[in-house]
Amino acid sequence: MPIPDYSRGSDPATAPLRVLGLETSCDETAAAVVRLAPDGRAEVLSSVVHSQIDDHAAYGGVVPEIAARSHVEAIDGVARRALAEADVAWAAIDGVAATAGPGLIGGVMVGLSWAKGAALARGLPLVAVNHLEGHAVSARLTEPVAYPFLLLLVSGGHCQLLDVRGVGEVRRLGATIDDAAGEAFDKIAKSMGLGYPGGPALERAAATGDATRYELPRALLGRKDCDFSFSGLKTAAARIAQTLTTDQERADLAAAVQAAIVRQLVERSGRAMDGWAEDAGGAERVFVVAGGVAANKAVRAGLEQATAKRGFRFLAPPLAYCTDNAAMIALAGAERLALGLTSGLDAPARPRWPLDEAAALADPMHVAGRKGAKA
Ligand code: KG4
Ligand code: ZN
Repeated sequence: MPIPDYSRGSDPATAPLRVLGLETSCDETAAAVVRLAPDGRAEVLSSVVHSQIDDHAAYGGVVPEIAARSHVEAIDGVARRALAEADVAWAAIDGVAATAGPGLIGGVMVGLSWAKGAALARGLPLVAVNHLEGHAVSARLTEPVAYPFLLLLVSGGHCQLLDVRGVGEVRRLGATIDDAAGEAFDKIAKSMGLGYPGGPALERAAATGDATRYELPRALLGRKDCDFSFSGLKTAAARIAQTLTTDQERADLAAAVQAAIVRQLVERSGRAMDGWAEDAGGAERVFVVAGGVAANKAVRAGLEQATAKRGFRFLAPPLAYCTDNAAMIALAGAERLALGLTSGLDAPARPRWPLDEAAALADPMHVAGRKGAKA
């Protein structure tokens, strides 16, 4: 399918669509205004992200109650700033989109309730957006990527390979059976005393390390599917972490951990590409990586090589759109709005909401783990 023609479902008098999006599912309070042209091209008019990292740093991870309270305090100002920076008045906004899950329920409720109030007060349609669908469309914020495409979604809560066929039409090809890749980065960094958030800290430490000094286990060796597992790596790294005495040893372990995670992501993505290419016929082969872990340079480099080898175009959103942001939520909302897919004011906030509900129900193993339902 080419870039969808949004002039169909929408009123030509109001197209292009301008949507205010809100994101509050984890530790970022974010708001953005995105404009979706009838030809399917997106333009980010503003994207404001208020990070709560300082509120949670002392605890080495996100504390749900603190996050919910911080969202309540920040949301008004962040939304107001997004409108001001986009230089659009409420009268020029066509809809309000908010993450309705999956995520930390207290935070999701803050953003969704705010969006419901604004939609009601301004007489605008509401779009309840799946956070994962936001990540799925994030590459479309800056590039006119056509459907279908293959997506590796790798963040703190998710690690899955998806066949994205259209708006809300997603088939899951593989997912983690335990931790998400970002969660593995975070937990291993914590066991190595590298600070929070762990992914960027571990990447920095790895820069001066020798990845061959420590041998780490490979996951799911006998299998030929696209599933992931990081718990064995986490346990092995934690054991070695207890023996570290020098900065060089720490850097070497960080490099070995990063290489092991990259190797697994690249191997499973390669399998997914091989299978996808077989049934894709003449469609352009596009591989997109999204989610916070896509900020990692070694991950990008490994995937870039794997895609080049198989004739896939490789796309990774700019860093600001890899980690949680509201522009991706606004765009997912605008795409749904253009097709008339709006939500009622009774739309629930959902802590768990797999993108591909059919696959998740058929194989509930994939919904295990700490934040597993997200994965
Ligand atoms: O997408 P995101 O902002 O939030 C979730 O929905 O989870 O992703 C955050 C995750 C964290 O686990 C963080 O450690 C990881 O992305 N991350 C990284 C890097 N930057 C962020 N992991 C590895 N290397 C990085 N440079
Ligand atoms: Zn996310």
